[in-house]
Amino acid sequence: MRENPFIHHRPQWRTHIGFLLAAIGSAIGLGNIWRFPYLCYKNGGGAFLIPYFIALFVVGLPLMILEIGLGHKMRGSAPATFAGISKRWEWLGWWQVIFVMFGVMFYYSVIISWCVNYFAFSFNSAWTNDPNNFFFKEFLMVSESPFKIGNLRTPIVFSLVIVWFLNWVIVFKGVQKGVERANKVFMPLLFLLTAIIVFWSIRLPGAKEGILVYLRPDFSRLKDIKVWIDAFGQIFFTLSVAFGIMIAYASYLPKRSQIVRDSFIIAVSNCFFSLFAGFGVFSVLGYMAHTTSAGVKDIVSQSIGLAFVVYPKAISMLPYFSSLFGIIFFGTLVIAGLSSAISIMEAFTSAIIDKFHYSRKIVVSVISILGFLGSLIFATQAGLLWLDIVDHFLMQYGLIIAAIFECILIGWIYKTKALRNHINHYSTWQIKRWWDVSIKFIIPLILLVLLISSLRAEFLKPYGGYPWLSIILIGRDWLIYTLFFSIIVAAHPWKIDPKDRILSF
Ligand code: ALA
Repeated sequence: MRENPFIHHRPQWRTHIGFLLAAIGSAIGLGNIWRFPYLCYKNGGGAFLIPYFIALFVVGLPLMILEIGLGHKMRGSAPATFAGISKRWEWLGWWQVIFVMFGVMFYYSVIISWCVNYFAFSFNSAWTNDPNNFFFKEFLMVSESPFKIGNLRTPIVFSLVIVWFLNWVIVFKGVQKGVERANKVFMPLLFLLTAIIVFWSIRLPGAKEGILVYLRPDFSRLKDIKVWIDAFGQIFFTLSVAFGIMIAYASYLPKRSQIVRDSFIIAVSNCFFSLFAGFGVFSVLGYMAHTTSAGVKDIVSQSIGLAFVVYPKAISMLPYFSSLFGIIFFGTLVIAGLSSAISIMEAFTSAIIDKFHYSRKIVVSVISILGFLGSLIFATQAGLLWLDIVDHFLMQYGLIIAAIFECILIGWIYKTKALRNHINHYSTWQIKRWWDVSIKFIIPLILLVLLISSLRAEFLKPYGGYPWLSIILIGRDWLIYTLFFSIIVAAHPWKIDPKDRILSF
């Protein structure tokens, strides 16, 4: 086998548990703590778990195996991996890492910043008696339309500096000393804090009613296609698949790796974490309903409102140590968010290093500055509106389209059998032909149906009641510009041909 100088320098995880914690850290994020419980509640309580677990096992897990297997085999970031398969497909890898880094990451870091602010607000319950007014009018000062940008919100900009500084420090230090070490601290802390929240809240009066609302199945909701779209969308977001992250993380694995077993551990522990965290969230809501004699259904609002409006209100009502509870809750969100944010940075950083061979320190410093500047738009008075539109487009179209192309590339051009043989060669847990069928037919078909029904809904009614122009300019064009940019970067020549990387395995 030919020695490749590039391979020689590829970083590697120090320990296997380090890789697992980093990948689980990427998967478990803000989405698990405030998005999942709300979706579950909105879409029929326990009945939502049916499409959710179907989405996990039919789409999420096979794609996780695909991405980890691919990263392990090709030993490169998403663009290097796809270019190694076919130079014509390099754009797909760039598109994933670019729209995630210069899209998802911009607003994701702003939501972490809100959590940093709320962490500080928890010390004296700064949201007072009216958390709704406080969040929308005093803290965000939301403007009336996405085109009325207004001013930058100073408290958010301050915490944004902290968030980007932390991202920078961690990713700057590299895979072992930065990402792996940070996750070895973050993950145990996250599990401990979440366990404290859950065990604290399930003992509150009224918690049982909250949990019943959370889990009581309403099967009639399963007839609604939107419930299925939500379940599949959430699985993509929560597992960080089609982000280019798992491919990059797996490229740092040693040769002897349990690809199938690790994919299973990452995907399943992430989803059980969501389920577990939901008990904490709904117990507190149950307690709040109990205290105010309202129904739990009446107090749950939209997803952002759940964490920043309903929850602060509930925290203020706690009988003892309410500030401490708030500090732990928002601290947990910050940690969960950071461990996902650094994985997004790493996916992009490794892509640039692979192709252009700049030093990590320069790449991370430049993208941290660009990232901070890009996030500022979401820290303005129109930030919440922009966030809502961009998130909708990147989740419902960006990730889904990227995943469809990923399946076409691996299923039809590269051929799943070659990758399956590679995966099985190293794994004790074997995958069979069902996996090929999934990647070639089942997943792209399901995603296509979801895509078409999302598009149909889009044309019938503009998303969220926003003006059409803002939907087009902010949502759709975000995807188009990043795609355009990806094609340009992909056209640039490589220093080392990505194909050379495959030879070393
Ligand atoms: N997987 C990350 C989350 O759920 C992005 O927040």
